Amino acid sequence: MTPDTMRHRWLLLGACGWVLLILMFASKFISFSSRVPDDYGGKSESLSWTVPATKDVKSQVQEPERKRTKPNQGPEGPVEGGDWETVAQKRLELVSAVCRNSTLKNLTHTPISKFVLDRIFVCDKHKILFCQTPKVGNTQWKKVLIVLNGKWQSDFVGVASGGDTVHECCVCVSRLNTYFKFFIVRDPFERLISAFKDKFLQNPRFEPWYKHDIAPAIIRKYRKSRAEATGLRFEDFIRYLGDPGRRRLDQQFGDHIIHWVTYVELCAPCDVKYSVIGHHESLERDAPYILKAAGIDHLVSYPTIPPGITLYNRTKVEKYFSGIGKRDIRRLYARFQGDFSLFGYRKPDFLLN
Ligand SMILES: *[C@@H]1O[C@H](CO)[C@@H](O)[C@H](O)[C@H]1NC(C)=O
Ligand SMILES: *[C@@H]1O[C@H](CO)[C@@H](O)[C@H](O)[C@H]1NC(C)=O
Ligand SMILES: *[C@@H]1O[C@H](CO)[C@@H](O)[C@H](O)[C@H]1NC(C)=O
Repeated sequence: MTPDTMRHRWLLLGACGWVLLILMFASKFISFSSRVPDDYGGKSESLSWTVPATKDVKSQVQEPERKRTKPNQGPEGPVEGGDWETVAQKRLELVSAVCRNSTLKNLTHTPISKFVLDRIFVCDKHKILFCQTPKVGNTQWKKVLIVLNGKWQSDFVGVASGGDTVHECCVCVSRLNTYFKFFIVRDPFERLISAFKDKFLQNPRFEPWYKHDIAPAIIRKYRKSRAEATGLRFEDFIRYLGDPGRRRLDQQFGDHIIHWVTYVELCAPCDVKYSVIGHHESLERDAPYILKAAGIDHLVSYPTIPPGITLYNRTKVEKYFSGIGKRDIRRLYARFQGDFSLFGYRKPDFLLN
């Protein structure tokens, strides 16, 4: 071996070492800042799903609807069981009425920012936009649309925040105006409980940042008694969410806040004219209705929903909020009031008074 080839080998080895180091560093960085994997279904609430062959799907969809005695037991009050079109229409009317209410203006309006557009998934083939609202069974909808699309496009990313070209922005506006657009909501406080359980109690193994970064930051700022050494408690979480001065922490947490920011902030319901807003509590009626309204009911069906799984559970809400100060709950409500009003969820007086 000549000294020259030796030198080359060492150089090569050195270069490989550097590449390895850089990769290690980059992967560490990426694992914290990358988009949150979507696991909204949650193990405890997952719905059974079978990827249907197109032909079974059709027969499933055309099965006559079973009569149910209580179509909706959500906190949104009684919803007439009959014509779902009317129910859906009334929801949209409520949204536009609440959007016009100037008292609630800063709780119901939000700019159609990159933050909003980033969560909207596009199915160009069938002209459908779906705004993700974590903890509301989104995984199931994405699976439905994946089946439909073959793949997901998230080509909205970045378009709103200036976009690369004028052309792209035109595309984005025309999609917002012409596509079928929908999202799903559930009781705002129940959603927060679900987010808390999923991200801080169950401690997802592949999302270590909730335990190692976000929980300690919230505890440092919001825990009253520093002596306690337990993990994040619901009380700490609520105090953080209701604090009007929490913005700096939110910025630090980046996109992870999608699991607990308002529907208003996620989907801009007063600024984007949605075609349908589904309710988790009446998903059995909403899911087929949405597929039909989007014109895809002959192609896909929503997975079977195990009975009772979507119903609002007041006992659970009471259990989680028991022992939390009224002042903290009122501040939380003050922040989420827009979500309650827009989507017809009853103000939780049993927690506030
Ligand atoms: C606007 O919202 C406030 C707060 O919820 C409510 O008290 C008021 O009645 C609403 N106004 C109208 C015109 O609906
Ligand atoms: C909305 O505006 C009122 C006063 O106009 C203010 O007190 C409140 O903090 C604002 N809420 C939000 C969420 O910005
Ligand atoms: C409601 O929540 C309570 C408390 O978490 C639980 O014990 C109960 O089984 C739930 N009820 C239903 C119908 O899921």
